[in-house]
Amino acid sequence: MDVLVVDHPLARARLTTMRDARADNATFRAALHELTVMLVYEAMRGAPVTTERVHTPVARTVGYRLANPPLLVPVLRAGLGMADQAHKLIPEAQMGFVGLARDETTLRPTPYLESLPESVADRPVLVLDPMLATGGSMAHTITLLTERGATDVTAVCALAAPEGIRHLEESGLPVRLVTASVDERLNDSGYIVPGLGDAGDRQYGAV
Ligand code: PRP
Ligand code: URA
Repeated sequence: MDVLVVDHPLARARLTTMRDARADNATFRAALHELTVMLVYEAMRGAPVTTERVHTPVARTVGYRLANPPLLVPVLRAGLGMADQAHKLIPEAQMGFVGLARDETTLRPTPYLESLPESVADRPVLVLDPMLATGGSMAHTITLLTERGATDVTAVCALAAPEGIRHLEESGLPVRLVTASVDERLNDSGYIVPGLGDAGDRQYGAV
């Protein structure tokens, strides 16, 4: 699996703000918003474009548009904090939604929402979730997408654990990963170490 680590100084700075346990919910959300812009920007590098003529106030030249805007799929809850920023960067994108809650004991994802187009055979997909831990939630989401024909999926995650990357590699699913960091490991509770804690709770408060 292709893994792109966006280790730009600005991405590192936003991730540091997110890691800091002293950051309040608003500060954490703002840092995730800004990091999302950087991750999506890099995820879209190399996307095919169409060309068109454009008249500037001065001259004629060649302009560019996305040839095939992606479907954006935030994984609720935590992925919601990436959805608006990704959509601002790619306003022509459509958005689908998947809702999953990880069972604290088994660490398996429990699905509670699935709102996806019938077919995604003909377009790229960006799955937005700040955390790739065991990889169970991401693998579940990508399986839903491949059942609808997806063959070109990018997981956009603030943080990833080696265990989650291995899970995706072994799944054989058609996915590449764009992330700001591959951390050390998971702890016994399935949290990424050093990580940033529970990304949903850090944004919205504990439920
Ligand atoms: C978090 C996170 C991922 C998942 C990652 O969501 O946003 O979806 O855990 O863990 P995994 O790789 O081991 O599956 P969580 O289930 O805590 O729900 P939330 O977004 O509602 O907080
Ligand atoms: N989900 C989170 O929100 N954080 C982790 O560290 C692991 C899974």
